[in-house]
Amino acid sequence: MRTPIIAGNWKMYKTVGEAVDLVKGLLEGLGELRGREMVICPPFTALYAVRPLLVGTSVGLGAQNLYHEREGAYTGEVSPAMLADVGCGYVILGHSERRQYFGETDAGVNRKIGAALAAGLRPIVCVGEVKAERDQGRAEEVVGGQLAGCLDGLGAEQMASVVIAYEPVWAIGTGDTATPDDAQAMHAFIRGRLREQFGPETAEGVRIQYGGSVKPDNVDDLMAQADIDGALVGGASLKAEGFLRIVHFQ
Ligand code: 13P
Repeated sequence: MRTPIIAGNWKMYKTVGEAVDLVKGLLEGLGELRGREMVICPPFTALYAVRPLLVGTSVGLGAQNLYHEREGAYTGEVSPAMLADVGCGYVILGHSERRQYFGETDAGVNRKIGAALAAGLRPIVCVGEVKAERDQGRAEEVVGGQLAGCLDGLGAEQMASVVIAYEPVWAIGTGDTATPDDAQAMHAFIRGRLREQFGPETAEGVRIQYGGSVKPDNVDDLMAQADIDGALVGGASLKAEGFLRIVHFQ
């Protein structure tokens, strides 16, 4: 069975000092993590400081982006090997904010997925439609296209290391969560597409997170859905108490 995975995407929040304090708060209140995985994705600048606190705990570390080359003259970029070097096990790729503000494309995300996997990182690949696309009844078409582009050329074995995050763009940071039924319907659609591309066994094993205004008071209903295998949490991952409540969903 799939082990649910709850990840906190800290986005561009937290200085090093604030990040260390948040991690200490999380670890103090964490208790036992049974049957679930927890990952935090601080900004690049805090990864190295946070890592030693997580060693020997059950909390994983992830980054929010990478560049697909191993090294080189790419001013301002960070390579997969550099992330592995500071102890990252995961990396968020293709987040809608990167698509919207930094021009990321499915083809670019596809290159990044390959580079992440080659460095031993597990990609959390984000897909999701904007409001107008949902209103036009095109949500599945859009998400299906993103999946095809991002996952093009991957083998089943590689796919087994990938996590998909369905994040409807209209639900991000708005408080306007998808209903559990609507989210489940899209997750089932995504798993169907994975089945077609990678076969039933691989598709059954891939974890599909929901993201978009996940909060302590809606996480339980979302996680009760058959194809929702976790959450990618933005705003509500920035305070220990709330995020711990989400991690300990019922
Ligand atoms: P919010 O939880 O703040 O809506 O953000 C979701 C998100 O973008 C996680 O990657």
